[in-house]
Amino acid sequence: MTFTQRHLLGIEGLSKGELLFLLDTAESFREISEREVKKVPTLRGKTVINLFYEPSTRTRTSFEIAAKRLSADAINITASASSVAKGENLLDTARNLIAMRPAAIIIRHPSSGAPHFLARLVDCPVINAGDGTHEHPTQALLDMLTIRERKGHFDGLTVAIVGDILHSRVARSNLLALTTLGANVRLVGPPTLLPPEFRLWGAALHSDLRTGLGGADVVMALRLQHERQARNFFPSVEEYSRRFCITPVALAEAKADVLIMHPGPMNRGIEIDSRVADGPYSVILDQVTNGVAVRMALLYLLTMQGKKVQEEPMDQLREETPSRRYAARQ
Ligand code: CP
Repeated sequence: MTFTQRHLLGIEGLSKGELLFLLDTAESFREISEREVKKVPTLRGKTVINLFYEPSTRTRTSFEIAAKRLSADAINITASASSVAKGENLLDTARNLIAMRPAAIIIRHPSSGAPHFLARLVDCPVINAGDGTHEHPTQALLDMLTIRERKGHFDGLTVAIVGDILHSRVARSNLLALTTLGANVRLVGPPTLLPPEFRLWGAALHSDLRTGLGGADVVMALRLQHERQARNFFPSVEEYSRRFCITPVALAEAKADVLIMHPGPMNRGIEIDSRVADGPYSVILDQVTNGVAVRMALLYLLTMQGKKVQEEPMDQLREETPSRRYAARQ
């Protein structure tokens, strides 16, 4: 199996085989981050640009760390500290960036479709790091890696995604990935934040937290996206929290070995209780760790395309140890 996509613009359109191949490749990169020297020469001489038009802690940092662990040069551009603040449009920014010959551009943008627009302009791979309310594919991939790490499979798992579904690119990408991989997805939240058309993608909709969490194997809490809410979708934050905050009492409805996930940043006490976020079932920081492995895998696969990805031995990623040196001499 190879990954022949030129860009990663979304989970939509990826097959089960492609998703599993990305997860398998990410798994092989996870070990590099456990080493004392967390660096391999794979992308030496290549430049990766992080183009972020929205704030980010996890995604931007982990793309930068992933690039650096592969020995690429990582350049960060934020809208507020670039010529975007002086009125430059995305087309001109893209033309200028491509003139500097990057190996890949990672883009986060408040407008849905901005990465697709960029991908049509540039001659290097583009990775969507979150576009408007559309998709956040690398978040879904790191979530899949975390679920598989703990549960070993996806078939028949019940995953409850709770919160502001309407404005969540994480919910869309996760719904697509989970249903493709064989899990059952419940979307849970106030009716005003539950788009009925998501049933067409195989989701069950729940407006009651207790029934939504009943028997769930995985509970994924989402952030309330105040910045994307053009009007009031519920009476007050207090009312929302009373009905939809994941508390230890609400969680009692789920399976005994439930996994608790959150993409971050968290609004503690609003969508998730600290006792749950920091509790024994939480894998929230594992998600962050897995984000680096997923992004290393994507940078590797997308920038090495046409360079014999299949034949290029993963050996070069393996640490040289005295026993391996000895084996190579035999
Ligand atoms: N999960 C996520 O996208 O977090 P950041 O906004 O910090 O990148």
